[in-house]
Amino acid sequence: MTTKVLGIETSCDETAAAVVEDGRRVRSSVVASQVDLHARFGGVVPELASRAHVEHIDTVISEALLEAGALDVGAVDIVAACHGPGLAGALLVGVSAAKALAVTTGLPYVGVNHLEAHLYAAWLEEPDLEPPLAVLIVSGGHTLLVAMEDHGRYRVLGQTVDDAAGEAFDKVARFLGLGYPGGPVIDRLAAEGDATAVEFPRPMRDEGLDFSFSGLKTAVVNHVRRNPDEDLRDVAASFQEAVVDVLVRKLVTAADLARAPVLVLGGGVAANSRLRDRVAQAAAATGRRAFLPPLELCTDNGAMIAATAWWRWERDGATRLDAGVAPTLALPSI
Ligand code: KG4
Ligand code: ZN
Repeated sequence: MTTKVLGIETSCDETAAAVVEDGRRVRSSVVASQVDLHARFGGVVPELASRAHVEHIDTVISEALLEAGALDVGAVDIVAACHGPGLAGALLVGVSAAKALAVTTGLPYVGVNHLEAHLYAAWLEEPDLEPPLAVLIVSGGHTLLVAMEDHGRYRVLGQTVDDAAGEAFDKVARFLGLGYPGGPVIDRLAAEGDATAVEFPRPMRDEGLDFSFSGLKTAVVNHVRRNPDEDLRDVAASFQEAVVDVLVRKLVTAADLARAPVLVLGGGVAANSRLRDRVAQAAAATGRRAFLPPLELCTDNGAMIAATAWWRWERDGATRLDAGVAPTLALPSI
């Protein structure tokens, strides 16, 4: 007997739903991205995000069920939704949809922590993964260094004190006039640039396990204002190298502390080609394995919600239907 979970994700700017069996096997995964909607504003506009979720949620859920070969929601065993952290209005759309399905079918509802879901995305690609793991979650909203000691046991070792890593990429790209989201453009430009051209600061590299990217962003802005003729490819490569240097250094220190033989990346910035290369190199140099999930599992998706719900359900059972959304929810740390 397998347990099929419908997972719904609407915490930010992707409307997503997926069906996953036993927390590991993806039967379907549908993601409707709102990137184009928000691009002209240079970032996510919360009210527009909520409205777009309302418009797309039914279709996305139906497609996920159909792709999984399920005629309707009665063919799954659990309905799950991300209940935080995220934008309140956006979260409400997914949670309300999940609860409505649970009420009308009598299926259990499980509310899922978005950050825990980024950790569990790893099991979708690597079902035999065993903790302890050192995990770096780097997205537009989060920069989190976690020692996953066991299922449900997390030690948050570090987080950003200001901008998230992806936010720094986006803000630098916006300043350079490169559009939104900035990470992929900087990644592409950097591939043709010289990463040693500008010696940008490595904020907090040797101080503990927290991160700070706001000063680095300001350093880039000041440098470009003072050197308007500097090749943008060199600026992009040098900025990216500074971010990646700090991220990789701290991930390895976290793995040392956690005695973790595996390094794992999650979140949209995990798509960064230089970060992936450097994490792979660091793993090889320290006798570890690097687990670099494919991009569709790194960025927000419903499959990671469904997977996490399965593990949560095994431990804690269903979530009460009167539980609301939790926009500032943190990863429970031991
Ligand atoms: O996880 P995600 O899709 O959404 C959340 O923020 O939750 O991450 C989006 C972030 C954006 O800041 C984007 O610029 C960044 O991931 N990103 C990248 C790359 N691709 C996406 N940053 C650096 N290099 C990339 N190749
Ligand atoms: Zn996310």
